[in-house]
Amino acid sequence: MDKLLISGGRSLEGSLRASGAKNSALPILASSILLKDKLIIRNIPHLNDITTMIELLSSMGAEMTVSENMDLEIDSSKLENPLARYELVKTMRASILVLGPLLSRYHEAEVALPGGCAIGSRPVNLHIDCMRQLGAEIDIVDGYIKAKAKNGLSGGNINFSTVTVTGTENAVMAAVLAKGKTVITNAAKEPEVVDLVMCLKEMGAKILGAGSDRIEIEGVDSLQPCDYSVMADRIEIGTYLTAVTMTKGNVVIKCSLPSVLETILEKLKLAGANIEINDEEINLEMDKTPNPVDITTAPFPLFPTDMQAQFIALNSISNGKSKVIENVFENRFMHVQELIRMGGNIKLEGNTAFIEGNTNGLTAAPVMATDLRASASLVLAGLVAKGQTKVDRIYHIDRGYERIEEKLNLLGANIERVSE
Ligand code: EPU
Repeated sequence: MDKLLISGGRSLEGSLRASGAKNSALPILASSILLKDKLIIRNIPHLNDITTMIELLSSMGAEMTVSENMDLEIDSSKLENPLARYELVKTMRASILVLGPLLSRYHEAEVALPGGCAIGSRPVNLHIDCMRQLGAEIDIVDGYIKAKAKNGLSGGNINFSTVTVTGTENAVMAAVLAKGKTVITNAAKEPEVVDLVMCLKEMGAKILGAGSDRIEIEGVDSLQPCDYSVMADRIEIGTYLTAVTMTKGNVVIKCSLPSVLETILEKLKLAGANIEINDEEINLEMDKTPNPVDITTAPFPLFPTDMQAQFIALNSISNGKSKVIENVFENRFMHVQELIRMGGNIKLEGNTAFIEGNTNGLTAAPVMATDLRASASLVLAGLVAKGQTKVDRIYHIDRGYERIEEKLNLLGANIERVSE
């Protein structure tokens, strides 16, 4: 199993290009099911979760051609097996994203129920409820969601009781080819939802309001081929900017996303980072011990849960006390015990972490990655710790960060990937 050996103590300097967003690429890949033709997707990140989604679509009969620079052409014309098997779904919860498009195209679908998860119970009841709202009959049999809509899906009103990102994406994809109009309220406003909608609109879907909490979809008969480039990954960018802040570095990240990064950039500025932004790049420079910053996670446009673990790492080396409240997932603090093993002074009470910065810094330790963003926080901690940190179970990190050690080493870090 691969591990990362991180020798801490180096400042990150240089420039970096952001990868495509995992959480946009996944629903956009799933949306190819809606098209009985070719979809070209560019700027797809090279990640294990993406490979899983590609395998899932291939298992249903989609044909893929990947170009040298990872642009992907998906031909779903011969897709004929609306079944998402447990063997694939259990490795990636986002597989649930095929439910809406399969039901829409085939009027039936069988999708394995995803199991438990390291960051919370993460049920899929809202995905199921919204399909029922569009006319599907759904039974749970032998661990599978068995869905049918004999006469096809029809438009309807979907009011999410909790804001759900992939739930909103599933609802939008199901409604695109449904008969009549669908109105989604309390919709997720995440930029990845907007990216999916932009791709669907390129294919000819009629959708209004993406990026607000009310999305209206007028069903169309069919979609046309299109060529779409996935947006940059705001969480990858946020993670590297936090690493630069922690290591007192100076890095330029090439991307054109500052507006969707606003809450993250605000917090990094409060931590003391100097940030300059123009259309094409973000420059972050840091020359002192970070100030502590309080964080409360919530759906977009508020602070993303996917950056919570990285900010706990940052607060652990700050010059004061801070409080981090996790409001999205009930169990997303698995990194805390590992950070404590590296000298972090963190106490957990319910959904709140109280952190007292250790200005003597962290010390290296063997640590265990438990989920994607938890692993990222351990890598950041390793970059500033005294000694060599060994991060085990890094398959979690390979699910969501493209070549993390190569990218950080280009900026001057000392990280080695070893197989043991
Ligand atoms: N929820 C339910 N029932 C449902 C669906 C969600 O109760 O049917 C609850 C969840 O348990 C959670 C809350 O609603 O408490 C919000 O979860 P959401 O559905 O928004 O999460 P998701 O769509 O499963 C996506 C991202 C996550 C990210 C969250 C929150 C993808 C593929 N995944 O998950 O990304 O943390 O939104 O922003 O888009 C990651 O990249 O590391 C990651 C976990």
